[in-house]
Amino acid sequence: MITCDSSVQLPFQPAAGGLACDGVSIHSISASVGTPAYVYSAAAIRDAYRAIDSAFGDYPHAIHYALKANSTLAIVRLLRSLGSQADANSGGEIAVAERAGFTPAQIVFTGVGKSREELDFAIAQDLGAINAESAGELDRIAAAAGAAGRVARVALRVNPDIDAQSHPHISTGLRSNKFGVALQDARAIYAARRSVGSLRFVGVHIHIGSQITTPGPLQRAAAALTSLALELREDGVPLEHVDLGGGLGIAYEGRPMITPAEYAAAVLPELRRAGIPVVLEPGRAIVGHSGALIARVVDVKQYPDGRRFAVLDAGMTELMRPALYGSFHRIVPVAPRQTTETPWDVVGPICESSDVFARERQLPDLCVDDLVAVLDTGAYGAVMASNYNRRPLAPEVLVDEGGWSVIRRRQTIDDLLALEA
Ligand code: LLP
Repeated sequence: MITCDSSVQLPFQPAAGGLACDGVSIHSISASVGTPAYVYSAAAIRDAYRAIDSAFGDYPHAIHYALKANSTLAIVRLLRSLGSQADANSGGEIAVAERAGFTPAQIVFTGVGKSREELDFAIAQDLGAINAESAGELDRIAAAAGAAGRVARVALRVNPDIDAQSHPHISTGLRSNKFGVALQDARAIYAARRSVGSLRFVGVHIHIGSQITTPGPLQRAAAALTSLALELREDGVPLEHVDLGGGLGIAYEGRPMITPAEYAAAVLPELRRAGIPVVLEPGRAIVGHSGALIARVVDVKQYPDGRRFAVLDAGMTELMRPALYGSFHRIVPVAPRQTTETPWDVVGPICESSDVFARERQLPDLCVDDLVAVLDTGAYGAVMASNYNRRPLAPEVLVDEGGWSVIRRRQTIDDLLALEA
């Protein structure tokens, strides 16, 4: 059995006809849509969403799914059908959230460098909250809202200088990171703008990083957020919510990992000190385990020193995480050959030496035309794909209730060239 961690089963499991996603044969999907392709389990997304939702129990909470993790329309619609709200990080994500059916009031908008166009768009939409990243941005929002005759609902993102103990590229809560305003400046920033008529301060926001694997940093973030909210209450700023951001990690290696229940147990005692409704912005923890990138072996070679390479038809253009962060993803052959496991370098076809999914990974023999699944790629997989080397984006398939459908077709060269003179 392939597990998320020691207790939860992954949607991708070995079966008689080879690897299956919730019982649906990966061979049959790839025979139809080709490779590379992303395959997602709707059931896994539902389960992960509900695990977080139920972990927060009766504490007033709203889950704003972070679209940046995976914003394919069908996935966003699925989350909406479960009762999720949305966290958007750009004008594009706001537009996708709205096309998926979210109302503006259900969307919070974060982003470290919002353009004037994005701010105007967000203000005109009357979003649930614009999470401002600086005093200057608050002032630009105030001016734009004032000019439009509107009142913008805003929260200030604070940077608590807490080490998320995650990969440096995805840690955001340290003084050395570009995100938010220093925690100690926040109270004065609110105080100086309290009487600005075009701003309504509805919350405070914090997000210290992603793929956080221990409760400590999340608990410290909740403590900092709550203390600030209590201070603001003293100052007479009536907040509607505190926004704890996302960041809950997943078990890429299949080993024990902080669970949603442990996350809630770490932060709820802090949140209860103020009792203000909490907004959560999970992305990875909802969709990460739901997806696999299915790829075909296109070449196999061995150097005289014995090092062996399996070259796939998917690479950093489809899944950038290993090249960008050195991140680990399990790789399983769809129909494993009955040989002993030996070390393989599993690489992509891109002309970059960083285009490597795994080095010296213990795998059974791989041969040209074999299919492999790169697991736990539902989050930050397809959304970070690129057209480098003029490679069309891979299709995405959603498996649900014993059937499957293409939720994004494969891009064609004509799609790519359609934008060009
Ligand atoms: N809220 C804010 C303000 C964020 O910046 C992020 C992620 C989230 C929520 C969702 O975080 P999650 O629950 O997914 O950890 N590309 C990287 C991850 C970047 C995360 C950026 N911000 C990766 O592949 O690991």
